[in-house]
Amino acid sequence: MSRWTGALFDPRRFAPSRTSSDDTPDQSMERGCQIGSDRPSAFNPWLHRFAIFTAISTLGLIIIGGLVTSHGAGMAVPDWPNTYGYNMFAFPISKWVGGVLYEHSHRLMATFVGLLTAILSLWLWVRETRGKGRWLGVGTIVMVLGLMGVRALPVYLILAWLALTVGGFSLYQIRRNFAALRWWGALALAAVILQGVLGGLRVVWLTDQIGIFHAALAQMFFALTCLIVLFTSRWGQERRAPALRGGELESRAELELCAPAATAVTRWSAPGG
Ligand code: HEM
Repeated sequence: MSRWTGALFDPRRFAPSRTSSDDTPDQSMERGCQIGSDRPSAFNPWLHRFAIFTAISTLGLIIIGGLVTSHGAGMAVPDWPNTYGYNMFAFPISKWVGGVLYEHSHRLMATFVGLLTAILSLWLWVRETRGKGRWLGVGTIVMVLGLMGVRALPVYLILAWLALTVGGFSLYQIRRNFAALRWWGALALAAVILQGVLGGLRVVWLTDQIGIFHAALAQMFFALTCLIVLFTSRWGQERRAPALRGGELESRAELELCAPAATAVTRWSAPGG
């Protein structure tokens, strides 16, 4: 276990104020979970349902992506962001035949998933951020959505670099506070933008190797949406520190959120578990 995860999952850290020094690690973990469930739940069923919908749509997108590759249809539409010169949304249905059907529906589905991810990240951001930071985040996400609508390669390249930066910064914030869902949302949005641009560059730069990164990032992005589903569930939220204080979550929150996850992973991975 790394220094970071070791510190996060150390059961003794879950209930510092109530843990007796005689407690076993299991008792300690139990106390930590009880403390979490004593607190008012921030569970929002609609947010959780929306996260589930996003994850399921992503799974559908990955399946269509697999069809693109297995049918050798990656280059069936030779241009991007346009489709045979048409705006992607105006491409006539009568031309959706052969490999074009797979590639074009993959692009459309990717746009839909991108939109869902933007809404999810916006939702998480607004929910967990107070003051100026809230509107700064909202403004940035809306601006990014507007720029995506420009549908020009240079703009997408700039957005991809921005996404790399924001993704790195989000990871840094998540490392500081594992339970800050708004940064998980920002990470997901950065990942989906990068993923979309990688898919497009694979076409316009005719580079097979980009397809490898595109395929790998797809799985990571799906895992990310599943984590958000888990964290927004009643189970995840009830084990989380209660309040937003000055827009930041308490560091205890990360521990309380991680406790059940760590237990579950350990039990699954244990022989015969
Ligand atoms: C945004 C979310 C996206 C996800 C999750 C996604 C996922 C995938 C997956 C899983 C594959 C199959 C990879 C493999 O098995 O080797 C694939 C293939 C492909 N995707 Fe995407 N994709 C996304 C967006 C896009 C976009 C916007 C484009 C734009 C053109 C695109 C173009 C392609 C192409 C051309 C392939 C075929 C690659 C090859 O066969 O070399 N994808 N995608």
